[in-house]
Amino acid sequence: MQIIKVHSAIRDYEVQFSDTFDFLEAFEEIPNRFYIIDSNVWGLYRDSLFSRLDPQLVMVLPIEEDRKNLYTVMEIYEVLMSRSAKRNMTMISIGGGIVQDITGFAASTLYRGINWIFVPTTLLAQADSCIGSKTSLNYKNYKNLVGTFFPPNQIFLCPRFTKTLKNEDYFSGLGEIIKLHLMGGEQLAHELMSSLPALVGRKDSAALLSAIEKSLMVKLSYMQDDEFDTGKRNLLNSGHCFGHAVESTSGFNIPHGQAVVIGMLFANIVAKNRGLMSSALFEQLYQYALQPALTAKPNRHQLDTDALFAAMKMDKKRTGDGLVLIMLIDGFKLIRTDDLSYDELTSTNQELQKLIGVA
Ligand SMILES: NC(=O)c1ccc[n+]([C@@H]2O[C@H](COP(=O)([O-])OP(=O)(O)OC[C@H]3O[C@@H](n4cnc5c(N)ncnc54)[C@H](O)[C@@H]3O)[C@@H](O)[C@H]2O)c1
Ligand SMILES: [Zn+2]
Repeated sequence: MQIIKVHSAIRDYEVQFSDTFDFLEAFEEIPNRFYIIDSNVWGLYRDSLFSRLDPQLVMVLPIEEDRKNLYTVMEIYEVLMSRSAKRNMTMISIGGGIVQDITGFAASTLYRGINWIFVPTTLLAQADSCIGSKTSLNYKNYKNLVGTFFPPNQIFLCPRFTKTLKNEDYFSGLGEIIKLHLMGGEQLAHELMSSLPALVGRKDSAALLSAIEKSLMVKLSYMQDDEFDTGKRNLLNSGHCFGHAVESTSGFNIPHGQAVVIGMLFANIVAKNRGLMSSALFEQLYQYALQPALTAKPNRHQLDTDALFAAMKMDKKRTGDGLVLIMLIDGFKLIRTDDLSYDELTSTNQELQKLIGVA
């Protein structure tokens, strides 16, 4: 199967695709290895994939967004040191984006960096977060405030893991897949629109594999020459400016990738009303790319304009007076503006609510 090579200033690494779980057996050859596994993944696969693992070499990590902090990282240091972790050890993390962020941070700081293999098990981690070098922790109420750049030495990606995902987690990953395809130009956008029914149906593994590969290639194209996120990589925040605000006003009840879908709808309305996106393209994207994948609709309370305005003002990347928004425009180009006003937010939010039928 395919291998994607990623160039990084820290170290080059590869994403190795696999349609079997055989790579797990090969891990047994790695000296001084230690596994950190998402507790839900552990529960699902303990008696099958993980039945041969030595319990002394495993730490099972309970997964909750509010455990993505320095305390949990310290729990990892504690367990590792109690098992005599050495500088030449290899940490093998198996799980979604939360495991990636926590264990990546631990791997980047322990002995100033140890070997680290990541096995992404959610759709979001496979199609999006596994590449990009970022590790992020929450601090109090500040999401992803603390972090490092530290890519894994290797990523092993088996889409079969996604079969056991709950629908809400699957559709969260699908939101990021849609975002990346729309950022990949007209042809990829059309490919997405034709494969979306299969992706929504969750039964076509070939369509899923292809969508994951293409998503990573698009992400890679935006990261190239901007690994440390000072320019073009920022466009990957498409759908996230308004999306992050919805995540926060919903108390994180709207899954991340679903909030991104809502964020893309919002940005498309602004682009259409500013004359930057034709009504025809707007309608096509709504009908064939965004609406079919929107499974978590926010309620009126979660779309309160004042709360959204306050949340958008917190954007880490904001520099001007207005709010930041990344928009897809005609010709499948992306632009970033920082002049979204309160009034435009209000009217766009009203139009969004009418469009998706908010109760
Ligand atoms: N570092 C980055 O570049 C980056 C990028 C995007 C997102 N993130 C972070 O990733 C996190 C979200 O990641 P996520 O969406 O993967 O969520 P997650 O890690 O919370 O996983 C979602 C749920 O799926 C469960 N799960 C994992 N694999 C499973 C499987 N194979 N079968 C059944 N259940 C499974 C988990 O236990 C969890 O309950 C957020 O904290 C976000 O900030 C990081
Ligand atoms: Zn995202």
